Amino acid sequence: MSASQPIPADRVFVLDFGAQYSQLIARKVREQGVYAEIVPGEISAEQLAQRGPRGIILSGGPASVYEDGAPDCDPGIFALGVPVLGICYGLHLMVSRLGGEVAGGQGREYGSADLSWNVASPLSAGLPSSMSCWMSHGDAAKRLPDGFLRLATTDNCAEAAIGDPARRFYAVQFHPEVTHTPQGSALLANFVHGVCGCGNDWNMGSFVTHAIDNIREQVGAGRVLCALSGGVDSAVLAALAHRAIGDQLTCVFVDHGLLRADEAEQVKAAFADSGLKLVAVDASERFLSKLAGVDDPERKRRIIGHEFIEVFTHTQRELGDFEFLAQGTIYPDVIESGGPKAAKIKSHHNVGGLPEKLGFKLVEPLRWLFKDEVRRVGEELGLPASMVWRQPFPGPGLAVRVVGEITPDRLEIVRLSDKILRDEIALAGLDRAIAQYFTVCAPVRSVGVMGDARSYLYPVIVRAVTTDDFMTARPARLPHEVMEKIATRVVNEVPGVNRCLYDLSSKPPATIEWE
Ligand code: XMP
Repeated sequence: MSASQPIPADRVFVLDFGAQYSQLIARKVREQGVYAEIVPGEISAEQLAQRGPRGIILSGGPASVYEDGAPDCDPGIFALGVPVLGICYGLHLMVSRLGGEVAGGQGREYGSADLSWNVASPLSAGLPSSMSCWMSHGDAAKRLPDGFLRLATTDNCAEAAIGDPARRFYAVQFHPEVTHTPQGSALLANFVHGVCGCGNDWNMGSFVTHAIDNIREQVGAGRVLCALSGGVDSAVLAALAHRAIGDQLTCVFVDHGLLRADEAEQVKAAFADSGLKLVAVDASERFLSKLAGVDDPERKRRIIGHEFIEVFTHTQRELGDFEFLAQGTIYPDVIESGGPKAAKIKSHHNVGGLPEKLGFKLVEPLRWLFKDEVRRVGEELGLPASMVWRQPFPGPGLAVRVVGEITPDRLEIVRLSDKILRDEIALAGLDRAIAQYFTVCAPVRSVGVMGDARSYLYPVIVRAVTTDDFMTARPARLPHEVMEKIATRVVNEVPGVNRCLYDLSSKPPATIEWE
């Protein structure tokens, strides 16, 4: 942060105990106009005090407080005189650290629950007395520490929200940071504004200034190669880096043979007049031959990550000396690839695939943002709406949608059906309403009848989800006529397909992509 843009005085620190949702907490706090930063859960009270917190949030996490090696916090943070909010595991930590007791197993709750507020406090100011909330826990508080009151309950959890208003300590068993707790943002706003007394001095404009300063500082006079996929993240990254360092930036667009129909041409056209230096590399043969015969999703992802780096290294040699590689890595890529404490869900190509001895220094200014925050940065930078509001497309491309081994015929099935789906969704005027939609080809075949003959062909699965943050998602409610038209066209127009299915799974427990 430069001297002209000091970190706002009102800052909240999220102590991370390995939750899938830690960054979501920080981002929901930032949405309230309050600067929030994630720090390791084991940070000492002294280090934290030096950073001047107005509030502290203890995140959730996959562990159980009494397990060996369970993440712990410095008990000194409860003596700083700063308000603390515990979330899920953070509640267990607060309860056990302050002299109460946590018990495992009895009150397991996963999914939506109805919660009632029983005792008024600043945490629930203005919230309805009954509301739904998202639960995901095995342990629960059994005995509260001295000074704590039970503030809210659900059918399965007597201590769904607790608090010690005198010390300004609060904790919730549910997850206020996920969209499935509709009043969650209001609760977090109550904590940061009502309990901690923070103002509203953080916004995307401050982020852009901050990020540009950081890029300039990191890169100095060095040259930067930027991996441009044409998706929102890398486009915003390129615009940000271009604004920061101008001609020191060269963008590389790699066609890995796993792009959607017409995509390579569209991306080249979109950046043709942008003033960015853009080099297009056709590496499709190389990627597809390395992927031949590989059916394990993680191996596929690692191969793609590795090949990307190889191509960049090669391009670097051809184009001259580049010290830095800019990547549009965003927070869900980082968290789902697993961290020191978070569980690994899948290796996003730009995280899990990186070899240890990478010849580049990485520039990743979007690493702490979510997709919708990246879009707001794009708007702040003046990028066209067609670019900012593009649906996301994963770096490994169609490789993660051809489930199992990638063969030319199944890749073509996904490419053709995806084009039909995109055309029909646009025709129905639904493209802005649905966050992401695509097709998948499963590695099974089923019997059908076409004309008078038996067929034994692949199914196409349509996946369409609504989500704000891509960390949780729900199946989109497509009108039946639209679904039927898509299914008819897919089965009639895509060779090798005799069935079309709709994926009705939420995330969690499913993920958005199939691999
Ligand atoms: P999942 O499947 O993890 O996807 O629920 C969440 C969002 O991330 C996208 N995704 C990726 N994006 N590299 C990317 O750039 C990847 O390796 C990757 N894997 C998933 C996915 O399309 C969805 O928008």
